[in-house]
Amino acid sequence: MADILTDEEIRAIKEKNVGMYSKHPWPVNRRTAEEMGWRLKVLGIHPREFEGKRTLECGCGTGNYVIWYAVEGKVSEAVGVDLSDGSLAVANRLKEEGKVENATFKKMDVLKLDFPDNYFDYAYSYGVFMITGDTEGAFREMVRVTKPGGTVTISIYNTFGRWPVTIRQKILNKLAPNDPDKRVKLGMKYFPGPFKKLDKRYYGLNTEQLAYDTFGIPYEEVHSAGEVLGWLKRANVKYKGAFAPLRVRDYFYAFSLDEYKDFRSTFTGYPATQKVSDLLYKISGGRKSQEYITQFPSPGPISRGFCQLMWLLIGGSRFSCFTISGVKQ
Ligand SMILES: C[S@@+](CC[C@H](N)C(=O)[O-])C[C@H]1O[C@@H](n2cnc3c(N)ncnc32)[C@H](O)[C@@H]1O
Repeated sequence: MADILTDEEIRAIKEKNVGMYSKHPWPVNRRTAEEMGWRLKVLGIHPREFEGKRTLECGCGTGNYVIWYAVEGKVSEAVGVDLSDGSLAVANRLKEEGKVENATFKKMDVLKLDFPDNYFDYAYSYGVFMITGDTEGAFREMVRVTKPGGTVTISIYNTFGRWPVTIRQKILNKLAPNDPDKRVKLGMKYFPGPFKKLDKRYYGLNTEQLAYDTFGIPYEEVHSAGEVLGWLKRANVKYKGAFAPLRVRDYFYAFSLDEYKDFRSTFTGYPATQKVSDLLYKISGGRKSQEYITQFPSPGPISRGFCQLMWLLIGGSRFSCFTISGVKQ
């Protein structure tokens, strides 16, 4: 559970984090398309929830997801907001290069969205809220601008899955608390493993870029699935699904889906995760369930505790982030 920070502390965090992403925009060289099919289906999200709809990404970075929704996702309007000028410049360049008319990027704080209540049909955020200083507040704000009946998706660092990285961050923060450049230098020297893995996944992105996202980051929080379920309840959002799943039986559904074959390459550099996943696909893949499940039962404490522990033991930091989707009531 993270501390409640003052407005002044949140302002300072925002300035440092956004400044870092302006100098080192994220992501670069990600093949977003190969991730989306499996992830959305496992989350219980059907294309009809976004096709032809007005969508929002909170903290869009270089705009990869916004462009995917605008083009592949066939949404009517794909809006992405972020505060980092460096990232927004890349996003606008990608939009121009791809002539993506229905994508718009705006400079805006995810903690104070300049949109009316109930404005978007579908809203999502990947890897952002936990670095704002007010993770639940950012989630509430995303829910506020989403229409009742609309889908919301939040992806943040997990207490368990992120642990291998958190422990390294703690050591580096002791050595160079106020010097991100030094932390990155030391991190690249003493803990090069995660970058080599991520570099493979992000197709030869330079390691320095990845090191800034991991060790240069001035502030981040980690949260458990139970905490996020509490936020959903308080914001009157009905749980839909999780990625990776939070109930053991949902893994058999996930691995019965053919979309896993596209996603598989994102496990490159994580041999244990890839081996276990391939085995699950071998066991479950024969069923070829073509049916969409759009509502999974909410996971209980034992089941989600077990799954999160597995992310730590098998994920090897690949499951730093976890994602939960729901429907605003
Ligand atoms: C790791 S990147 C995620 C980018 C994108 N969601 C993706 O996964 O492709 C985090 C982004 O959050 C943005 N960010 C951090 N705090 C923010 C805030 N308060 N308001 C808007 N954007 C913020 C940063 O500028 C950065 O671009």
